[in-house]
Amino acid sequence: MALINDNYLKLKAGYLFPEIGRRVKAFCDANPQAPVIRLGIGDVTEPLPPAIVAALHAAVDEMASRDTFRGYGPEQGYDFLREAIAANDYAARGAGVTADEIFVSDGSKCDTGNILDIFGRGNVIAVTDPVYPVYVDTNVMAGNTGDADDAGRYAGLEYLPATAENDFTPALPSRKVDLIYLCYPNNPTGTVATRDTLQRWVDYARQNGAVILFDAAYEAYITDPSIPHSIYEIDGAREVAIEFRSFSKTAGFTGTRCAFTVVPKDLTGTTAGGERQAIHPLWNRRQSTKFNGVPYIVQRAAAAAYSADGKRQVREIIDFYLANAALLRQGLEQVGIKVYGGVNAPYVWLKTPGSTTSWDFFDQLLGKAHLVGTPGSGFGASGEGYFRLSAFNSRANVEEAVKRIQRQLG
Ligand code: MLT
Repeated sequence: MALINDNYLKLKAGYLFPEIGRRVKAFCDANPQAPVIRLGIGDVTEPLPPAIVAALHAAVDEMASRDTFRGYGPEQGYDFLREAIAANDYAARGAGVTADEIFVSDGSKCDTGNILDIFGRGNVIAVTDPVYPVYVDTNVMAGNTGDADDAGRYAGLEYLPATAENDFTPALPSRKVDLIYLCYPNNPTGTVATRDTLQRWVDYARQNGAVILFDAAYEAYITDPSIPHSIYEIDGAREVAIEFRSFSKTAGFTGTRCAFTVVPKDLTGTTAGGERQAIHPLWNRRQSTKFNGVPYIVQRAAAAAYSADGKRQVREIIDFYLANAALLRQGLEQVGIKVYGGVNAPYVWLKTPGSTTSWDFFDQLLGKAHLVGTPGSGFGASGEGYFRLSAFNSRANVEEAVKRIQRQLG
């Protein structure tokens, strides 16, 4: 008898975005003429920048010739990309990360889930609430939680509410935790963490022997110069933090797939016997065993994001999406909706009008304005009464979305 992983049966409904996709499909099937605009899942819409396309083409040509063809690459990523990341994303910001601490991968979603492979059972896990659902669901799958209650909170997880009442800055955990998921700029709220806030987290982790799993997939959207882009800009973070980054939302790689995870050599955890153990070799072992690297052509394309042209073109795309976010913010504010985020992030987080629940607002917006967003409660119980709009779309669609929202809510 083949036993299944019973933990999967604890998962609530479908994963959030497929569930939204299912509802939108049902609506479109019933209303085939409705001109639906999708501001739900944060999926980029603008084409790859020319410098990246040129690098991709050149790499394809290399693969077409016996002399330059490549088979398996290093599981950790090619040096040309790891070195470009270390120089541009870290050294340039005064954050000491060496190329061999960088593990190139096919996505931050995968890495934030897979990272649990190298941590033991019995860790107490803290997540902010609302939260990117992958952190919670992968802990459920791994058996790190009990069952969910009616609000969707899983027993055993330490939820740290982030709402307008605390300015979206969750308090430190009230009990000792071992793993802490932080995402800044935050998905879904679009808010950021100051240097002081991050220092408090790093100090907490150092005092409690905890590890911070820091998701910085949206760091390129930071416009406020006082906000750190990397956790390694914070004193002591190399001893306690793993950082996840992605080319998805910066260089437009949601379909091309390239990301990286930083595991500093100073980072340690504890064995069941109570001894300190470096974590870097564990992730290296995990990746070498279960992963065969990102395609050469994709890594060449990612490296082109660090060329002079690539940097300029990537910046233009980010500024384009940020201008979309500003339009959404203004449009919502003009009809009296309270909005958060959208200044240092591609997500606008809004308070639903009156006592409308997140899913009711989703249904109203889809049914009447033919607009798709993401219900806040899908990101956690503390997201109830909030709603997320993504700035990833064409300018024409965002302008049209603003008009429709104003017509419906004005
Ligand atoms: C989101 O909409 O939250 C993101 O697109 C999800 C992701 O990056 O996996």
